[in-house]
Amino acid sequence: MAATYTIREFSIADYDAAYALWEVSEGIGLSAADSRDNIQSFLTQNPGLSFTARSSDGSLVGAVLASCDGRRGFLYHCAVARDRRGQGIGRQLVKRSIAALAQRGMRKCHIFVLADNEEGRRFWRKIGWEERHTILVMSRDVIAMDGGTAPRPGTAERRSEAGG
Ligand SMILES: CC(C)(COP(=O)(O)OP(=O)(O)OC[C@H]1O[C@@H](n2cnc3c(N)ncnc32)[C@H](O)[C@@H]1OP(=O)(O)O)[C@@H](O)C(=O)NCCC(=O)NCCS
Repeated sequence: MAATYTIREFSIADYDAAYALWEVSEGIGLSAADSRDNIQSFLTQNPGLSFTARSSDGSLVGAVLASCDGRRGFLYHCAVARDRRGQGIGRQLVKRSIAALAQRGMRKCHIFVLADNEEGRRFWRKIGWEERHTILVMSRDVIAMDGGTAPRPGTAERRSEAGG
């Protein structure tokens, strides 16, 4: 019998369980950007786009964040619990976010994947995503670490927001 799970919209009440999953998921890069307040703000600004999967005992077994900036969609932090992988949960989470982005009029969605995340790359390719070899991600801080407003060159986080 197929293992059961339920997909629901990601709410801030899911934060602790989702964060714990991301922390133990290889290929997910966490940073100060993933604080509870920031994720609350992210969900408020992007309602209906992010999802979790919970198994029948209520435990969180998968999560994905998605956003829309008005012209493109973005997915972040797609992860499935190790013992629930290979059951289609990752594919379904992505499918729900993509469908919601399409409803919002988005025609394309991007992800950031750590270049050394070979398994993650295989997953994305398998479910229809195309690697782009002519685009390089560049980043910089917009608020200096000392709280000032003028960013110092070359201080961008090295592992940025990669990891889905
Ligand atoms: C990547 C990840 C989310 C996939 O979740 P999952 O629930 O196991 O994926 P699914 O079961 O939905 O797999 C969908 C398809 O991709 C394939 N697939 C999944 N992981 C794969 C891998 N590592 N290599 C090759 N194929 C893979 C599956 O076989 C399936 O194909 P099928 O439908 O033809 O059988 C999960 O492995 C994970 O959490 N990894 C760690 C975090 C991570 O790297 N996330 C991506 C960040 S960019």
